[in-house]
Amino acid sequence: MKKNYIFIFLLMVGTTSAYSQSEINPFNYHSKKDINVKNGAVVSAHPLASEAGLRMLREGGNAIDAAIATQLALAVVFPEAGNIGGGGFTVIHLSNGKNITIDYRETAPGKSFRDMYLDSAGNPLLNLSQNGHLASGVPGVIAGLFKCMKYAKLPFKKLIAPAIELAEKGFAITENEAYELNHYQGDFKKYSSVTPVFVRDTKWKAGDILVQKDLANTLKRIRDNGRKGFYEGETARLIVEEMQRGHGIISYSDLKNYQAKERAPIEFNYKGAKVITMPLPSSGGIILEQMLKMSEMNHLSKMKFETPQSINLMVEIERRCYADRGKYLGDPDFYKVPVKTLVSDAYLKERMSTFIPGKAGSSKDIKEGIIPESEQTTHFNVLDKDGNAVSVTTTINGGYGSRVVVGHAGFLLNNEMDDFSVKPGVPNMFGAVGQEANAIAPHKRMLSSMTPTIVLRNNKPWILVGTPGGTTIITSVYQTIVDIMDFGMDPHDAVNKPKFHHQWLPDVVYLEKGFDENVKNQLEEMGYKIQMRGAIGRTEVIMVNKDGSMTAVADHRGDDGAVGY
Ligand code: DON
Repeated sequence: MKKNYIFIFLLMVGTTSAYSQSEINPFNYHSKKDINVKNGAVVSAHPLASEAGLRMLREGGNAIDAAIATQLALAVVFPEAGNIGGGGFTVIHLSNGKNITIDYRETAPGKSFRDMYLDSAGNPLLNLSQNGHLASGVPGVIAGLFKCMKYAKLPFKKLIAPAIELAEKGFAITENEAYELNHYQGDFKKYSSVTPVFVRDTKWKAGDILVQKDLANTLKRIRDNGRKGFYEGETARLIVEEMQRGHGIISYSDLKNYQAKERAPIEFNYKGAKVITMPLPSSGGIILEQMLKMSEMNHLSKMKFETPQSINLMVEIERRCYADRGKYLGDPDFYKVPVKTLVSDAYLKERMSTFIPGKAGSSKDIKEGIIPESEQTTHFNVLDKDGNAVSVTTTINGGYGSRVVVGHAGFLLNNEMDDFSVKPGVPNMFGAVGQEANAIAPHKRMLSSMTPTIVLRNNKPWILVGTPGGTTIITSVYQTIVDIMDFGMDPHDAVNKPKFHHQWLPDVVYLEKGFDENVKNQLEEMGYKIQMRGAIGRTEVIMVNKDGSMTAVADHRGDDGAVGY
């Protein structure tokens, strides 16, 4: 396997830190992209966050402890997407065989209403669903972490310590983070009512130290008061006051009443392995199940990676699944979704009956099936020596979410309201369209594409996978799984080789840069409209090898880093 070590930058600052005893120093570090280890691995969007998780594994914690520490550290070192002001999903396989999912997706505030992003003539006001205070759903991350605590071994105080230290003492930012912070300066000034630490007069550059005192204080309140340290008291007051200054609508009672939910996972067999993934309100699990089952029915494993034949089949599968997503999927607590039918063999067979190999289908002809009954996010994986596995995707939706930093609390709020369908047929920022199933209603969860997934072989963790990328999340997880399971690819290539994406509307096949030019031409000859685009997702994989060792692969598309021991 190709080893790829990316050295981000080196900058020594004479500071003592708990990190100086471990492998990674927050003022001087690099990302390892591929590792092979025996006892435990963490792979996330940032090496310092991965390292926070590894510290917990080394100190006797399990994969759940490590996941909580990693997630909290991501909120500090990866403000673009890591967060405590957003939401997410966690999929867990415990070594005792139990599979669990935790849903801490944001909810629509109590004062929200169906047409809140339409003007008096019924035109969509996407600026309001995507930017600023009104774009935020009620954050779920902290409630989600405390819901996970019953599966953890170490005290919460220990799990949050690395995040507090990184916020208080600072860390050196990467070149990518410097670029993004510079890019969003105008938005931070425009949408935050109190100037946040991200704003400064000179340009950020790689190696600059980012210290976040307000965030450190918020994290300390959570350390000392548990979930109440976020949803009540001082932090709640700061959130509500921020809302009042910016004409947002999140209230004290929205915060106090927010509940994370443990839900039954989606579980299904694929080629003799068992896939454990996220149910609604993520569309990811249902669509992944549809895609993999259609792939098996249509003999994908007889085809090869990145050939016109395999892409033709996979694009037509993706087209049909995304048409269903737009029509049928939404928060199951608010809308009756025909889940059983959508993943049944008979339905999926019927959906592919119009597929003509070698020919591009059309989204004009292919609508949702007939049912008789009614770019910001981040993913990480942890696997411990006992076989506990955790796969987590969390989001504030767009880059730096709503760009509102809660005044004096130091964290960004999400712009997740845009994941609702603001009006039937009007595309959101990822081009996804929806209807009644995903209309806005108070306290409802907006539909997601996040697809944290664990594939078991012989009932033991085999592949842990997930990625950010909006609607491309599901197709990237699908492609990573079939690249390994159908095309026999190693995890390094399954993560890093170019991906493609089709989502029904628009009727375009997106090819990631680096895609084979010949294959592109042949797809055009079949009748596909092709559009080249930049990076698709940032996929993280941990795979268990036949000898029991673990290979962790961090995506080369970002600063992502894998650690282990
Ligand atoms: O939940 C969802 O599907 C979206 N909010 C995810 C957004 C995302 O992945 C952006 N990252 N690149």
